[in-house]
Amino acid sequence: MRRPLTLVDVLLVLALFSCSSWIVRGSSLCKQTSLGETRPHSVSITEFGAVGDGVTLNTKAFQNAIFYINSFEDKGGAKLFVPAGRWLTGSFDLISHVTLWLDQDAIILGSTNSDDWPVVDPLPSYGRGRELPGGRHKSLIYGHNLTDVIITGDNGTIDGQGSIWWGWFSNRTLNYTRPHLVELMNSTGVIISNLTFVNSPFWTIHPVYCSQVNIQNVTILAPFDSPNTDGIDPDSSDNVCIEDCYISTGDDLISIKSGWDEYGISYALPSTNIIIHRLIGESNSSAGIAIGSEMSGGVSEIHAENLQFFNSHTGIRMKTSPGRGGYMRNIYVSNMTLTDVTFAIRFTGLYGEHPDEFYDPDAVPIVERITFKDVKGEKIKHAGLLEGIKGDNFVKICLSNVTLNVSSRFPWNCSYVQGYSDLVFPETCEALKERIYPEHSSDCYQLPSYLSSLSNQQRVYRWLSW
Ligand SMILES: *[C@@H]1O[C@H](CO)[C@@H](O)[C@H](O)[C@H]1NC(C)=O
Ligand SMILES: *[C@@H]1O[C@H](CO)[C@@H](O)[C@H](O)[C@H]1NC(C)=O
Ligand SMILES: *[C@@H]1O[C@H](CO)[C@@H](O)[C@H](O)[C@H]1NC(C)=O
Ligand SMILES: *[C@@H]1O[C@H](CO)[C@@H](O)[C@H](O)[C@H]1NC(C)=O
Ligand SMILES: *[C@@H]1O[C@H](CO)[C@@H](O)[C@H](O)[C@H]1NC(C)=O
Ligand SMILES: *[C@@H]1O[C@H](CO)[C@@H](O)[C@H](O)[C@H]1NC(C)=O
Ligand SMILES: *[C@@H]1O[C@H](CO)[C@@H](O)[C@H](O)[C@H]1NC(C)=O
Ligand SMILES: *[C@@H]1O[C@H](CO)[C@@H](O)[C@H](O)[C@H]1NC(C)=O
Ligand SMILES: *[C@@H]1O[C@H](CO)[C@@H](O)[C@H](O)[C@H]1NC(C)=O
Ligand SMILES: *[C@@H]1O[C@H](CO)[C@@H](O)[C@H](O)[C@H]1NC(C)=O
Ligand SMILES: *[C@@H]1O[C@H](CO)[C@@H](O)[C@H](O)[C@H]1NC(C)=O
Ligand SMILES: *[C@@H]1O[C@H](CO)[C@@H](O)[C@H](O)[C@H]1NC(C)=O
Repeated sequence: MRRPLTLVDVLLVLALFSCSSWIVRGSSLCKQTSLGETRPHSVSITEFGAVGDGVTLNTKAFQNAIFYINSFEDKGGAKLFVPAGRWLTGSFDLISHVTLWLDQDAIILGSTNSDDWPVVDPLPSYGRGRELPGGRHKSLIYGHNLTDVIITGDNGTIDGQGSIWWGWFSNRTLNYTRPHLVELMNSTGVIISNLTFVNSPFWTIHPVYCSQVNIQNVTILAPFDSPNTDGIDPDSSDNVCIEDCYISTGDDLISIKSGWDEYGISYALPSTNIIIHRLIGESNSSAGIAIGSEMSGGVSEIHAENLQFFNSHTGIRMKTSPGRGGYMRNIYVSNMTLTDVTFAIRFTGLYGEHPDEFYDPDAVPIVERITFKDVKGEKIKHAGLLEGIKGDNFVKICLSNVTLNVSSRFPWNCSYVQGYSDLVFPETCEALKERIYPEHSSDCYQLPSYLSSLSNQQRVYRWLSW
């Protein structure tokens, strides 16, 4: 029955091989979505009476500058230039088609008076402030319903002076939930790049209900003991690309979310199509990348590659709870290097934390198709603490080529999870022991199919040489 090999057969096989090497190397993977790289108009904050002495409050100057720039909205927008100096300000709002550009020694400083951070409505997908019932303080730099917004520069700094907020948090004198450093809501075409963000009062960069967000080449810093100073929190947002960032904070470096319990379930806006590439950082009390715990609108199609986390509590963490509903599915983590990390991978199915007593305990999340590939680690305490939910197993968890130097005598501890593995050291838990190849590769998210799998490559070679 066999026909002789033709050139077409050989090309077909070669094509299959090249498709399987899907890790794209080299330059930017974030699609540039903005036309605003070169704005036709430019103004400096000094033209609006701002004083960069670190003492004068410049909120009015920023507001007036933005009001003036509004007249260029239909003329390609404008750039607001912030020169070297220490520019103290309260919250101000951006508009569409604006580029906020911080020169090398420009520092925008958040006011230490909470009255300069007005209180705004809670997010509909959270139903209340994340920390306290009711409203929340508006972020230092805020935008709502915008398109084509760029926050960039020559490595200038946006400093939230968060320590005063961390103090109010710890001595329980806050009246409302703490503000983010930058929040963009319901906006499309956002670029945040080439800057440093330090000491946010709360989460640092919060795109919520946004599309087409690129965050590139930023540094985010906050002390290890600062409470809830997450780096970047894509929340009910899609087509988000985060690359070439260095983050070291008091909480998760990146945390992907989509609303909280019954509020998130009814708002039903997922976070999807999120790419994270070349992330380096440390999080001594939390995770390199977390998903949840607020994930009630669903989280899917997450691709995280070329990650280096060190001196951290957890590498990758998935957090959820009965009451959340929603789903976390189709998540792919590959080429991750961990050094000095307590838990390489951690799933928590009973995270708790509910907005109020009206959540539905029967609303259980669906957690499935999560792949970890090419992971290595040194000085790891526990390889995996994987806890699903009784009666609601987390399924199709796949581990391929995971090598960890673990100190614990019980490296993997699994409950209510199910999945497959190949090439895992130390040997994984019983629930994940079934081999991926050959018959389960299609159960695993983003693993090469049987045809292009390693074992099959050998077969194909044999077939070619036959
Ligand atoms: C955003 O758009 C919604 C719907 O059009 C509107 O209700 C809301 O007031 C807008 N918010 C701002 C700040 O423009
Ligand atoms: C990163 O930003 C710095 C300045 O902040 C710049 O000099 C450098 O070229 C940027 N790198 C990339 C890859 O964009
Ligand atoms: C930008 O500045 C920060 C803080 O000063 C520094 O850590 C970082 O290396 C700088 N980034 C670049 C790309 O020069
Ligand atoms: C609470 O913290 C704030 C901000 O850090 C500080 O100014 C205030 O004195 C503290 N109050 C008490 C009662 O400790
Ligand atoms: C909370 O409200 C009280 C009473 O209005 C006020 O004195 C205090 O400064 C507020 N705290 C913060 C952190 O804004
Ligand atoms: C977002 O924008 C859309 C379209 O402009 C609007 O219909 C919707 O109400 C806005 N949502 C919020 C939360 O502002
Ligand atoms: C970052 O800065 C570098 C050097 O100035 C520039 O080439 C690059 O386009 C900038 N990247 C973004 C995304 O703004
Ligand atoms: C994290 O950093 C803080 C502040 O530097 C330190 O007190 C704490 O011991 C560190 N925790 C771990 C687990 O390393
Ligand atoms: C894996 O990630 C490291 C950086 O963390 C990078 O240097 C290396 O090229 C990546 N390997 C592949 C195959 O992409
Ligand atoms: C396993 O992963 C390491 C990186 O952690 C990589 O260098 C190696 O090539 C991978 N091995 C296989 C068989 O894919
Ligand atoms: C694990 O690390 C220890 C201490 O660094 C080292 O002695 C040991 O050889 C390593 N084991 C493996 C399997 O790499
Ligand atoms: C596994 O984790 C549970 C808590 O989730 C703990 O009670 C148990 O002791 C752990 N088992 C081992 C062998 O470490």
